Amino acid sequence: MTHNLLKGKNGIIFGALDEKSLAWKTAEKAHEEGAKIILTNAPVALRMGRINELAEKCETEVIPADATDMDDLENLFTKSTEILGGKIDFVLHSIGMSPNVRKNFPYTDLNHANFIKTLDISALSLHKLLQAAYKLDAINEWGSVVALTYIAAQRTMPGYRDMADAKAVLESIARSFGYYYGKEKNVRINTISQSPTLTTAGAGIKGFNSFYHYSEQIAPLGNASGDSCAEYCISLFSDYTRMVTMQNLFHDGGFSFTLSSDDVLASFDQ
Ligand SMILES: NC(=O)c1ccc[n+]([C@@H]2O[C@H](COP(=O)([O-])OP(=O)(O)OC[C@H]3O[C@@H](n4cnc5c(N)ncnc54)[C@H](O)[C@@H]3O)[C@@H](O)[C@H]2O)c1
Repeated sequence: MTHNLLKGKNGIIFGALDEKSLAWKTAEKAHEEGAKIILTNAPVALRMGRINELAEKCETEVIPADATDMDDLENLFTKSTEILGGKIDFVLHSIGMSPNVRKNFPYTDLNHANFIKTLDISALSLHKLLQAAYKLDAINEWGSVVALTYIAAQRTMPGYRDMADAKAVLESIARSFGYYYGKEKNVRINTISQSPTLTTAGAGIKGFNSFYHYSEQIAPLGNASGDSCAEYCISLFSDYTRMVTMQNLFHDGGFSFTLSSDDVLASFDQ
């Protein structure tokens, strides 16, 4: 069922790799809700992934951009406004990658060149895309920018390694840039802290499967699915959330505020 929540709006969606990607699901829903969107991903992901299928489905095109490269980002915003015939109303930052996680470096023995890459790709990219948009004045008044994050920014989860630090920086950038962009243009910037979800990035985290089932048992509503995450993104792009900014919003079935559950405690009964 659609409600035309995004009718007349233009958006840019970063990070759709395959149909499991949170960005893929959000792009489909944004299209269903009447938005015109541009899809983007890193050039290497365009070769590996299936983004062209999504572009066909959403009746749009793909503009390659490495989210760590300012020239790519400026080109992306300039071309997107040309193709869409107006400024941007919403942006989804759905980008994460840690070479330390990929190569299995323990947190106590990280490769620091990798660490800098993790921060650049997974956190500074939000600052970079916002800076490009701000400079070009590419986002409409009351526009909405959402970045996806994870609770390991607040609460330690060992296998998440340097991605936890990157997510803490990402959430801080949303608050800091949210202040300036809000004052200047009424643009709102939030992060959504999503439940573990089975995607390419999710599956790369050590112990992901066990943790997926653990949080499913702790959260009163269970884990939030990828589809429901997409719906939450749409609500934040819509005009119904115009006064929400600089927030980290937990979308996790109540996991973040539940210390334990009857199910989990029962497994310790003696
Ligand atoms: N899957 C989960 O359990 C989960 C939970 C909470 C938050 N998140 C976050 O959601 C976001 C999306 O991840 P996902 O789970 O959909 O996995 P995914 O692997 O489908 O998406 C990650 C995307 O980041 C892109 N990317 C990597 N380097 C890039 C670069 N230099 N420039 C541009 N794009 C680049 C990849 O190509 C990919 O499309 C990430 O920020 C992730 O940390 C995921």
